[in-house]
Amino acid sequence: QDATNYRTIRVEVEDAAGTITICRPKALNAVNTLAMEEIVHAARALDKRPDVKALIITGEGPKYFAAGADIKEMADQTYDEAYHKRFMEGWTGLAAVRKPIIAAVNGYALGGGCEVAMMADIIIASENAVFGQPEVNLGVIPGMGGTQRLIRAVGKSKAMDIILCDVRLTAFEAQASGLVSRVVYTDQLMAEARSMAARIASLSALAVAKAKDCINRAYEVPLSEGLRYEQREFWSAFATEDQKEGMHAFLNKRNPSFKDR
Ligand code: HXC
Repeated sequence: QDATNYRTIRVEVEDAAGTITICRPKALNAVNTLAMEEIVHAARALDKRPDVKALIITGEGPKYFAAGADIKEMADQTYDEAYHKRFMEGWTGLAAVRKPIIAAVNGYALGGGCEVAMMADIIIASENAVFGQPEVNLGVIPGMGGTQRLIRAVGKSKAMDIILCDVRLTAFEAQASGLVSRVVYTDQLMAEARSMAARIASLSALAVAKAKDCINRAYEVPLSEGLRYEQREFWSAFATEDQKEGMHAFLNKRNPSFKDR
């Protein structure tokens, strides 16, 4: 697939940041199957580009990150269709991305929109962001990770309240709950995301990928295994030139110049 042929997203690379913007304005950036396929395709292509050090995912316009999965696409879908086409399973492809993914949440992130944000590694939000999982209102449940990732971010009681009672979190509530890392003025959101990407780009891509991998590992395994995993990744960092460069630059009071080797 050619990047210029994307129909539901826009992809831009600027100063080491690869930005994927969801562009479905008539559906408030709701993500349908094509959007999922294009986002995952673009993310994997950006992951391979050596000039890109971090990914940003956001929604077009100032009000909607994504209003959910596409209700029009789902309304008449049968169990048989959902099962056989493995509806929305393709999102698992994002987990293979090694570079950090920053969700820059500009406004509503509801249902599948909130779930896409939670698939990212770091969520930053504009002041007007709203997070929610209103699927039970539609007779379904979150289906892109919401019941699993939200509880890890905000704890069981809040996750139940958000999913069962359609409680929505403002940007600051989401930050207080640990779901969101930074909240910024709405017109500063992309600048903040790019500055986060630039900071990441100044580091060794190897160390960044190891850190991301180990942090995400904590979701998957018990503590003792996670600690063993971290130890091995930490030890293996001493096989890289970037470790020598980073430590010697510190000792020599100069800035490091990492080569991602
Ligand atoms: C398809 C959507 C949509 C969605 C809005 N639209 N959300 N289309 N899928 N998720 C469409 C509306 O039908 C409408 O189309 C147009 O966008 C404008 O929407 P309004 O409601 O008029 O806008 P507004 O009053 O500004 O309200 C914004 C909103 C509201 C609060 C975000 O649209 C809303 O509540 N949307 C649904 C949120 C939701 O339930 N999300 C969860 C979806 S289920 P027309 O043609 O009338 O202009 C889900 C499942 C996840 O995500 C698991 C899947 C595997």
